[in-house]
Amino acid sequence: MIFEQIASGGCQSYLLGCADSHAAIVIDPNQLQTDYYLGLAARDSIRIRYVLDTHTHADHFSAAKELGRALGVPVVTHRLSPAPYADFRLADGEILKVGNLRLKALHTPGHTKDSMCVVMEDRVFTGDTLLIGATGRTDLPTGDPDALYDSLFNTLLKLDPALKVYPAHDYKGRSHSTIGDEIATNPRLQKRERAEFIDMMTHLNLAAPTHLTEALRTNMSGGRTIAQLLSDAAAHVPFVAMGELAERVKKNDLGLVLLDVREKDAFAAGHIPGAQHLPRGQLELRVNKELPDPTQRILVCCEFGQISTLAAATLRELGYGQAAALDGGVKAWRDSGLPVNAL
Ligand SMILES: [Fe+2]
Repeated sequence: MIFEQIASGGCQSYLLGCADSHAAIVIDPNQLQTDYYLGLAARDSIRIRYVLDTHTHADHFSAAKELGRALGVPVVTHRLSPAPYADFRLADGEILKVGNLRLKALHTPGHTKDSMCVVMEDRVFTGDTLLIGATGRTDLPTGDPDALYDSLFNTLLKLDPALKVYPAHDYKGRSHSTIGDEIATNPRLQKRERAEFIDMMTHLNLAAPTHLTEALRTNMSGGRTIAQLLSDAAAHVPFVAMGELAERVKKNDLGLVLLDVREKDAFAAGHIPGAQHLPRGQLELRVNKELPDPTQRILVCCEFGQISTLAAATLRELGYGQAAALDGGVKAWRDSGLPVNAL
């Protein structure tokens, strides 16, 4: 068996391959590690055949769709997953063959309705159903402590105590434990009566995960994250350093069109000397009039350097082949004590 555990922040994902056939699967891929999975597969001469999400993640951005589409392979989820890009849905007890490996899906709702654990030989990938020394929370959309009780005490914990537990999260740098260790030491599993377990789970008072709304939006719909949108735009745009622009301003000869795409009030309150104003929201409507020469060198700036990246990408799409974005924004410019003009 080929096995790699990839930790990213508190998230754990797994690359699992058959040593005979060199077919592999990625479990709970994270967008931050997409290139790494592909690199590992290339290093070990294996072919990723499936991408699997154990459940709809609310706290990180799943790379399942991106990776599945890039490789032309199925995205595997539980049957109840809302993700429209899931194209291979497993029911409880069904087995997925990856080369000579057999992965068995166990439906374990509770953390989410579509949670599943995946058993493979000596190990079980528990998603967020069971973590090392904890369980997944049940207070996020489709969570249900009553269902989690059954998934744990009547399904997962009845498996072989020697099975290794590989969760979707660990915030303390641990790699795995075993079912037996968890039964013995996991504080949440000491509440063995249904009522006391449910009472504990409903009174955890956990803070909402960062990016909850965006993670649910993108993981449930297959839509893109803001970071993806920005990085896709940045991949097609050259950047100009603030120091270079400062030199041009100092010489009083910009030698390019400096386009400030912030709103009217922000521009009036203070802009880089020589800047021309065209708000991002009106860019496409006014571009023909304001920027008649598509061969002009255009440098786009905004407050923080992100909207300007999107605007420069749009300009390039429109045929302004010399559009670039300022590396940084007007805020950083001001904070560095560089000159600004007000209207
Ligand atoms: Fe989760």
